[in-house]
Amino acid sequence: MNKVVCFIFLTISQMSLAATSPAEIAAGKKLFEANGCVACHGADGKADTPTGKAVNARNFVGDAPEKYKQGYSEKAIATTIEKGVKGGSTGMQPYGSVIKDPKDRLLLAKFIMSLKESKK
Ligand code: HEC
Repeated sequence: MNKVVCFIFLTISQMSLAATSPAEIAAGKKLFEANGCVACHGADGKADTPTGKAVNARNFVGDAPEKYKQGYSEKAIATTIEKGVKGGSTGMQPYGSVIKDPKDRLLLAKFIMSLKESKK
């Protein structure tokens, strides 16, 4: 039974290579939690933690794409995660030396964008 479910799941994820799969979002969420993004951006991405409010972190659920200083696309967000927000005067530091795999940075970007789509 499990093998069947697994097969169906793999087939579906192969078919939607370009789109974001639930597995990618789940992996991105794990990275989000494991790398401490939640301290400022909140577990739900709304940035309403004490630290998030203090540093005025981006709210991934409520902030409009235009608010993103460095662009709102998977690629742009992955680059922000690698290099931080330019100028370095804000709390958004570069994570390139911590999250070394570009694939992981892309998973994080996909997760962040999924928060907006769900409008939770
Ligand atoms: C110490 C607090 C803090 C932590 C931890 C943090 N951020 Fe941020 N983040 C910020 C702040 C503050 C901003 C707003 C920066 C600005 O407006 O210049 C921001 C902005 C962003 C943006 C939007 C940048 C833009 O283009 O405007 C992204 C994407 C982002 N953070 C992703 C992440 C990810 C992913 C992690 C974990 C790997 C993370 N952040 C960890 C404070 C934090």
